[in-house]
Amino acid sequence: MAKNSDGSRLTVGIIGIGNISETYLRNLTTLYSDSIDVRGCADIVPGRSAQAAEQWNLPNTYTSVADLLSDSAIEAVVVLTNPVSHFDVCLEAVRAGKHVYVEKPICATPTQARALLDQAQLFNVLVSSAPDTCFGSAQQLSLKVLKSGEIGKPVAGNAFMLCHGHERWHPNPGFFYAAGAGPLMDMGPYYLTAMIGLMGSVVSVQGSAQRTFPQREIQSLPLRGSSIEVEVPTHIVGVLTFEDGALATIVTSFDVWHSQTPHLEVHGTLGSLSVPDPNRFAGAVRVRRAADEHWEDLSTPGEEEVDLRGLGVVDLAQAVHQGIAPRLGGELGLHVLEVMAAIEESAQLGSSVTIKSRAPERSLLLSDA
Ligand SMILES: NC(=O)c1ccc[n+]([C@@H]2O[C@H](COP(=O)([O-])OP(=O)(O)OC[C@H]3O[C@@H](n4cnc5c(N)ncnc54)[C@H](O)[C@@H]3O)[C@@H](O)[C@H]2O)c1
Repeated sequence: MAKNSDGSRLTVGIIGIGNISETYLRNLTTLYSDSIDVRGCADIVPGRSAQAAEQWNLPNTYTSVADLLSDSAIEAVVVLTNPVSHFDVCLEAVRAGKHVYVEKPICATPTQARALLDQAQLFNVLVSSAPDTCFGSAQQLSLKVLKSGEIGKPVAGNAFMLCHGHERWHPNPGFFYAAGAGPLMDMGPYYLTAMIGLMGSVVSVQGSAQRTFPQREIQSLPLRGSSIEVEVPTHIVGVLTFEDGALATIVTSFDVWHSQTPHLEVHGTLGSLSVPDPNRFAGAVRVRRAADEHWEDLSTPGEEEVDLRGLGVVDLAQAVHQGIAPRLGGELGLHVLEVMAAIEESAQLGSSVTIKSRAPERSLLLSDA
């Protein structure tokens, strides 16, 4: 992405110094340092921010979130705390007059997200939310294929995120099985942001869900061998109806050991598009028109996956400087969250649930205005 038009940088503070913070700190202080100036960080656990500030050579160490928010030089915050605290932390930031980029999901419930966005409007600040993998080469190419009309109008889609849970690698995986998390709330934002970017807004959903294992055993260090009580469904199936009439399915699971299903496909009136893992920035984008005998790989040969997280913060910086809505604006985060919450609600009710929110008009394709 380009440098801000006036050459200035957005001064940010980072809140939440856990597992994913290293990627953000590395990328924001190196790859994106033309657009972003990281002034310091804060965490609820004493010592974490000082350690990160030293490691990444940040000018300031803050003793608390309130301390960071009281720094008038900070224009925006990057919130990397656990999802259950996103609402409280983001609200405090908004009320302190800071723009916000928050990791996914935007909040734990759509009601919280709506309240946060209303407050942001009141305080005249912008809120945007992850995931920013949509700005990687794979999804950008997929969006271009859709826009070109090569596969026609989308009529169907399917998405599969099947694995056996994050307790195999995350150092503190308990929160993935607590209220507000689970495979859909945790991984759904990648798949749904991609699908909504390609196929438009969702107007209603139906869901089915199960909690297969009431406890999970942690396999990663340092908590290996301890048990997690599972509070949420861990295998969730959703049927989505899009505003333009297309139908899609999404299956997210922490209960599946092995699978060969595609990550994401969009089927149009003239052909089909295969999109690689939406949790990654690169990968093979394949297209097969109605008469084609084989799938054609459109991606650049030899392109390697690089974790480019932070592109969403650059998107926010550009929006702030241009005085426009970010592409990953909070209304998109809210729409994704409402769809996920509605799938889970539908599974409980046994009937379909209508979606009230809509995705904003602004395209996720960077070459579009
Ligand atoms: N770990 C990953 O690979 C990954 C990848 C993409 C996105 N994410 C998202 O990033 C966010 C954080 O995930 P993580 O894996 O880094 O979690 P984590 O548990 O490793 O780290 C969270 C950090 O936030 C701090 N924290 C919690 N509540 C706080 C509060 N109220 N105020 C200040 N600090 C607080 C914790 O002390 C901890 O240091 C989540 O939204 C997650 O969905 C994580």
